[in-house]
Amino acid sequence: YYLASAKELMRINGFVGMALSYGLSLNTSFVSSIQTQCNIANQIISVERVSQYMDIPSEAAEVVEENRPLPDWPEVGNVELRDLKIRYRKDAPLVLHGITCKFEGGDKIGVVGRTGSGKTTLIGALFRLVEPAEGKIIIDSVDISTIGLHDLRSRLGIIPQDPTLFQGTIRYNLDPLGQFSDQQIWEVRVILVGVYSHTSHQPSPVSCFIIVYVHFKRNR
Ligand SMILES: Nc1ncnc2c1ncn2[C@@H]1O[C@H](COP(=O)(O)OP(=O)(O)O)[C@@H](O)[C@H]1O
Ligand SMILES: [Mg+2]
Repeated sequence: YYLASAKELMRINGFVGMALSYGLSLNTSFVSSIQTQCNIANQIISVERVSQYMDIPSEAAEVVEENRPLPDWPEVGNVELRDLKIRYRKDAPLVLHGITCKFEGGDKIGVVGRTGSGKTTLIGALFRLVEPAEGKIIIDSVDISTIGLHDLRSRLGIIPQDPTLFQGTIRYNLDPLGQFSDQQIWEVRVILVGVYSHTSHQPSPVSCFIIVYVHFKRNR
């Protein structure tokens, strides 16, 4: 350290002033430079993700023209599992170890098991979210692995475990693909707690939990 004499201070105060004024603007430049770098890093992740998605093997065919189920399949809803074995990856252990059973159409079945025992996997297998390693699932005498994914998934219904509501009207949430007329939607028995009075077309932001019991009349 040294104590600058008054004379010396007089000499450098010009520099100090200049340094301060440049230094202050440098600060803003630093901030914007770092913001730009972060933005670039974020944008590059998008590119990385696209290239990652390009390498994902695609699912099975959407429609298998030579093997399409009848228009009213599944008529009864008999589900038969034959020695169903499922694993999530080639080298991973089996999650379902050869399940064989039969569900009669119209029955209400509860699948019970501890966390991680494969309940969700079993339901996912009905939609072919995971393809079986071995074994078959037969619904009303159609082996579901032989038909197209669109044909399969459009004929089965599911209310998923995590409740998801899309932004939009309740009508849109009940029928996102717009396949049913307003009349049909009204015929659906809907019990909405608290939001019962909303009409079908008014956008109704639903912020409360709603319990929806839906019973689609068979659309024949
Ligand atoms: N996407 C996945 N990838 C790899 N393993 C999974 C995946 N989903 C579930 N598993 C494994 O499969 C087993 C069964 O899980 P799951 O079907 O979710 O059970 P449950 O629904 O009965 O709690 C668990 O051991 C879990 O770790
Ligand atoms: Mg589960």
